Amino acid sequence: MFFVCSVMFFCEISVYSVCSVGDCEGDFSVSQIFLYSLNPIQPVMTKKVLALFGSNLIGGNTDKLLTQAIKGVEDAGCTVERINVAHLNAGPCNQTYSCMIEPTCAIEDDMKDAYRKIKQADGIIIATPVMTYGVPGALKSFMDRCQPFYMAKYYRKQPFITPEHVKIRRTLFICIGGMKDPDIFTGPVLTTKAFCAIVDAKYSDELLQNDMDTILNVEKKPELLAAAYEKGKALGERIVKMRDGE
Ligand SMILES: Cc1cc2nc3c(=O)[nH]c(=O)nc-3n(C[C@H](O)[C@H](O)[C@H](O)COP(=O)(O)O)c2cc1C
Repeated sequence: MFFVCSVMFFCEISVYSVCSVGDCEGDFSVSQIFLYSLNPIQPVMTKKVLALFGSNLIGGNTDKLLTQAIKGVEDAGCTVERINVAHLNAGPCNQTYSCMIEPTCAIEDDMKDAYRKIKQADGIIIATPVMTYGVPGALKSFMDRCQPFYMAKYYRKQPFITPEHVKIRRTLFICIGGMKDPDIFTGPVLTTKAFCAIVDAKYSDELLQNDMDTILNVEKKPELLAAAYEKGKALGERIVKMRDGE
């Protein structure tokens, strides 16, 4: 009886300590935490890739490329969670700097769920069009709202992502633009690299295609769709290899 009570007490403490950072709503049941506590080597969530879709246009060229990359990740044996960033209920950072102290954002919106997904991911794909030589506003806001990761890592020196998980996490960046100018990717790549450093998912691969105003439909370029698939597959295969090697 004492043992059972001790276990239940431990479970409650675990649930509280995991959920008190405000990033795990609905994620862990008491029994899951109990099982996890019995076998700490067993990961709660593995081989999951988070796909961030930066365009507003479902069915557009960015969507087609992301869909191929997701297929590649899935064929490699990972699961994918996709966020259509432009469709989130999430505003911009309001600069109260509460995340200097609190390990989350003071704003109650869809970013709370996004933070949890970013933390859990073994890999990230960001697929976006270029807009005004940068990433679209909604995607930029999403990245700005990841300031709690920045404060945890660089200011409080208590990063959300463990060193073991950092070794696994990688980002694939897919970006297309209408113009021929090769410089259109300078801004998006810099912004994305900064985001990757902040959330500890190293920028490791990219697929950049300019001149979409001439190409118009990416299906006219099957080699581009194939490249998106292969890059997604490579990301997934690396995760599987690293997770299964644990
Ligand atoms: C508001 C807006 C701004 C854009 N700015 C740029 C730009 O600065 N440089 C560029 O090469 N293309 C620019 N584009 C073109 C898109 O990047 C291009 O059409 C892309 O293929 C759109 O992909 P999607 O249809 O998947 O959303 C812009 C498009 C929009 C709607």
